[in-house]
Amino acid sequence: MEFSIKQSLPEKQRSGCLVVGVYEGGKLTAAAQLLNKSTKHALNELVSRGDMNGKSATTLLLHKLPGIAAERVLLVGLGKASEINNKNSVDILRATFGKLNDTPAKDAVLYLTDEGLGKDAAWVVRQTVFAATEQAFRADSLKSKPAKAASLKNITLATLDKPAVALKTVLEYASATSHGMSLAKTLGNLPGNVCTPTYLATQAKAIGKAHKSIKTTVLEEKDMQKLGMGSLLSVTRGSEQPAKFITMEYHGAEKKQKPIVLVGKGITFDSGGISLKPGAEMDEMKYDMCGAASVLGTMQALAEMGLKLNVVGVIPSCENLPSGNATKPGDIVTSMSGQTIEILNTDAEGRLILCDALTYSAKFKPDTVIDIATLTGACVIALGHVASGLFSNEEKLAKELLAAGEQAHDRAWQLPLWEDYQPLLDSNFADMQNIGGRAGGTITAACFLSRFTKDFRWAHLDIAGTAWKSGKEKGATGRPVPLLAQYLINRAQKS
Ligand code: BES
Ligand code: MN
Ligand code: ZN
Repeated sequence: MEFSIKQSLPEKQRSGCLVVGVYEGGKLTAAAQLLNKSTKHALNELVSRGDMNGKSATTLLLHKLPGIAAERVLLVGLGKASEINNKNSVDILRATFGKLNDTPAKDAVLYLTDEGLGKDAAWVVRQTVFAATEQAFRADSLKSKPAKAASLKNITLATLDKPAVALKTVLEYASATSHGMSLAKTLGNLPGNVCTPTYLATQAKAIGKAHKSIKTTVLEEKDMQKLGMGSLLSVTRGSEQPAKFITMEYHGAEKKQKPIVLVGKGITFDSGGISLKPGAEMDEMKYDMCGAASVLGTMQALAEMGLKLNVVGVIPSCENLPSGNATKPGDIVTSMSGQTIEILNTDAEGRLILCDALTYSAKFKPDTVIDIATLTGACVIALGHVASGLFSNEEKLAKELLAAGEQAHDRAWQLPLWEDYQPLLDSNFADMQNIGGRAGGTITAACFLSRFTKDFRWAHLDIAGTAWKSGKEKGATGRPVPLLAQYLINRAQKS
């Protein structure tokens, strides 16, 4: 899908479909007014007859209006200007592309950027690109007869006045971000028998091949052994698939600039291990590598944007399965940091692979480390499927990530990392245990990770509730690629 932004008059525009907005009560947007004039007041007539009332996210498709060059016009209801918010502005764009995809139009010209949709032009540009890409996304590569690809290929974001130069960059970045999201979704949706640790490593190498700015390295289990990653290796013991430890180094700034390190949980299937999960919905644990997928998607987007930053992607990847060889509750292991861990529940495995990956990250002398993980079911209970859980050992970093999430509409909500929770991880036999009990499960998981991040600025995103959808709409969301990409864009623009 190709996007462009330009100044143009709607009545002159040749296109498969023009999209213009109508506010609730029938007030036409400036672009709609121009079309109205050229079509002998056809739009006003439809409004006064009650065919279009302008209610938020409603649509009306019109064919071959006389007096204009476009084949179709799609009227989109914008609701009341005073009532537009994050949610209905995104709903409006989703409805727009839902309807456009029902038509055979190959290209469309949208006059919505000028409206700002309750925010500003940059917001509309980003959300337009995300909505268009989402509607065109297909998850049927493993069906014997995949559906036909959407016919809509070219999308123009049109403005009546000359668009600000900066919007071109916003559009370019949003397009790169949407490609990263699609990659994260594709990988997330793949089943565990296809998307193994080896498969993720192959994907990471392919991204390294496609972009000169990225260098991918993959460590094998014997390398992890040498590094002392006893915690990570304890998780993979029950699996026949070899664990992989992937690093992707992106160089976009001078060598001496300290990198931002992104660490993604890459459990390609989480059965719980000997602490086996119940059967219902266990298939969804193929999504337990969505943190890793978001790192791959963000690294790809980064290379496509060519940001002047240094960034390292780190992905510890393995399966969590039971077997005669598997780690048992009560086993004590030594992490790469030297700290010992009593494993009371083998289903709390994410933190066991992340702690060694976090310790390893120090090797890059990082400016900032951010880990992304489908870490706790408790996070889904706390925040539902709307916000990702955010923790940080530095307030400024937390604020920057929250702001990036707002900007990209991929939001997070901060939870406390207070010392008061730490004693819940005390063990009688080791330096710590890997679970803190049912109460505050998301927080104690973050507290566990914080014991391995004392030497650098660090944030943790728990994406258990946001990385995929269940039920009829089952599928990966591509989150939090938009948040991460926006954070990196903001960092690059600051330095
Ligand atoms: N991958 C799961 C977390 C998860 C569960 C994400 C359900 C999304 C939906 C993680 O490895 C896990 O099993 N966590 C346990 C931790 C517990 C044993 C302390 C959990 O949340 O139940
Ligand atoms: Mn688990
Ligand atoms: Zn897990």
